[in-house]
Amino acid sequence: MPQLSADDLKRTAGVEAARSVHSGMRIGLGTGSTVAHFLVALARRIVAGELTDVVGVPTSVRTEEEARGLGLSVTGLEEAGTLDLTVDGADEIDPGLELIKGLGGALLREKIVAQASRRMIVIAGEDKLVSRLGERAPLPVEVASFGFGWHLEWLRGLGAEPVVRAGRDGRPCRTDNGNVVIDCRFPGGIEDPAELESRLAGRVGVVESGLFLGLADEAVVAGTTGVRRLRRGGEAS
Ligand code: A5P
Repeated sequence: MPQLSADDLKRTAGVEAARSVHSGMRIGLGTGSTVAHFLVALARRIVAGELTDVVGVPTSVRTEEEARGLGLSVTGLEEAGTLDLTVDGADEIDPGLELIKGLGGALLREKIVAQASRRMIVIAGEDKLVSRLGERAPLPVEVASFGFGWHLEWLRGLGAEPVVRAGRDGRPCRTDNGNVVIDCRFPGGIEDPAELESRLAGRVGVVESGLFLGLADEAVVAGTTGVRRLRRGGEAS
């Protein structure tokens, strides 16, 4: 059997998640390389006549361009109202379906769109499964550009090793919202994600963190032996 690449696994998860879309749905479209596969699979189902009247709300400029390029209908969150479903990737997924997201820099819009959805499916290759959040990926924290350097010492006080995300020119990257991202490594992982989330939420200038707690209802995870659907609460199929 040929070896499956990480990209093959992402595609498998994206194709499987596209099966969860039904005609008439308003869908949150996440961001990233796994979502790119989902968009292709979704567009194929529409072209094949299996789905009609599906409208997507993109979580980034990148996703909007990809979706439009595939001929998908897109709109803004204001126009769409409550979404039926959001499909998005993740950087880490823990056993309780809590997530770290935002390595692609779209975490703020991703979190708003997830919050506006009745249901969220996270799609990933099995390499994204961890026993504890922060074990492998840094936690992205989006902060206002004004005075962003003042957060570094405070973040160290929370046990983080913070690094301002920079572009090729060495200058801080800006998100689609014009903010700066500080990537925070937590050696040994994040001990109490809910406590950390509440500390970050209380800090003036912190716009949002990549901790997605209580948002994902289901994970579609592709591995070398097949694809699994993990549901919040522990059920798997
Ligand atoms: C974008 O900001 C992120 O939250 C992505 O969803 C996450 O980084 C997963 O990306 P990939 O699907 O490219 O691994």
